[in-house]
Amino acid sequence: MLHQLTVMDTVDRRRTVESESSGERSVYLETYGCQMNVSDTEIIASVLRADGFGLTRDHTAADIVLLNTCAIRENAEQRVRRRLAYFRARKRKRSSGLTIGVLGCMAERLRHKLLEEEHLVDIVAGPDAYRDLPNLLRATNETGQAAVNVHLSRSETYADIAPVRYNSNGVTAFVSVMRGCDNMCAFCVVPFTRGRERSRASDTILEECARLVENGYREVTVLGQNVNSYRDESGVAFPELLYRISLISPTLRIRYSTSHPKDCSDELLSVHRERPNVCNYIHLPVQHGNTEVLRRMRRSYTREDYVTLVERARTICPGISLSTDIITGFCGETEEEHRDTLSLMAHVRYDHAYMFMYSERPETYAARKYVDDVPEEVKKRRLTEIIRLQNRISYENNRTEIGRVHTVLTEGPSRRSQERLCGRTDSNKMVVFDRAQLKNGSYARVRITDCTSATLLGEVCT
Ligand code: 5AD
Ligand code: SF4
Repeated sequence: MLHQLTVMDTVDRRRTVESESSGERSVYLETYGCQMNVSDTEIIASVLRADGFGLTRDHTAADIVLLNTCAIRENAEQRVRRRLAYFRARKRKRSSGLTIGVLGCMAERLRHKLLEEEHLVDIVAGPDAYRDLPNLLRATNETGQAAVNVHLSRSETYADIAPVRYNSNGVTAFVSVMRGCDNMCAFCVVPFTRGRERSRASDTILEECARLVENGYREVTVLGQNVNSYRDESGVAFPELLYRISLISPTLRIRYSTSHPKDCSDELLSVHRERPNVCNYIHLPVQHGNTEVLRRMRRSYTREDYVTLVERARTICPGISLSTDIITGFCGETEEEHRDTLSLMAHVRYDHAYMFMYSERPETYAARKYVDDVPEEVKKRRLTEIIRLQNRISYENNRTEIGRVHTVLTEGPSRRSQERLCGRTDSNKMVVFDRAQLKNGSYARVRITDCTSATLLGEVCT
């Protein structure tokens, strides 16, 4: 899964789209969920704009509100339901009406239910139906009836659509390279919401990356639900794709998300080692530290396989930074199994982790075959233990950075203060540093002077 969206509950970020042009009817887009959804919103914006729709950042100025949704955990869906209730109330008050659409993973999962239970949803469009949005919008406008397309495609990759880069800092961009997932992990709804795996032709990806470089971008994050199983019809596999992207420009950094341990080959690790602009960082979701739980999760590797993989990564790419996803409280998880997750984290010492309580998703293998039997309070307590441990490890890892000098790609003002800049190291650590005379997109040599568990603080070397 992608997510990584960083844990933030990265996975639960919400983004809005900026005002761009004023067309006939204006659309407000809001994004929930992972980086893939953020990237999909850029595709949706492109499709709508090409069809003459205007885009607005202000929902009160919009005729159409589209929520690009996530279904990964129940709380992600609840958040969208609350937001829908808010827009429905607005619709009732607005004399000129308001068209409300649910797009993405929740649309795919709930389909007609959204129309039946949540009257006033006018559009339901799944992740492979975005080219059809202008038609759906016209249809609902003309008939006053809801319009639905939740067809999942075996081939749609939106390869020819140039994403509209919204909310962009002009420095870092997402490039979507494959869609869907065939892994069928027992807990995960994504194979049901996003369908089968398919890869976009590599020449269209290289072309998009080259355009980004021409337009001043300095970092791409290559995205797919299961990105390292990428293979296009001409036989280009993921290590080769990364290699080719890295040749476009030495000033372009390359990251990717999210990967599965089964596809993290020595060949891929060698690309990290050989290409200086392929970042020395991998998000490598482990999900759990106990082999029996991993088997129940249908993850296809054991604890030992995973630990061996981490050792290989560290041998081939010394100093490589690792982050992970962890689920706590999966069906049948005992106290001893939970402690195996803690011991694995202590052993691997990730720089960062996204940590979640298990949330049963209808249709999945786990929902059909297992009982969601770990009580909520136990899940919460285990999650707290995991988070506490990870915070300590992140802090200790960050402390070792003090005194070191890193090359940081400047992304813009820091969130807390306009006086300071922020950017990331090659190893994906966020650094906040003094402003100096730096433009967005410039590389700075920064000496680390202090840290928290989440951020490094530093000074530009003169
Ligand atoms: N419950 C909790 N967390 C989940 N994830 C996926 N499905 C579930 C679920 N049902 C987590 C996994 C995945 C990340 C994106 O979300 O850790 O890697
Ligand atoms: Fe992304 Fe969909 Fe998964 Fe949510 S359910 S994290 S939006 S792929």
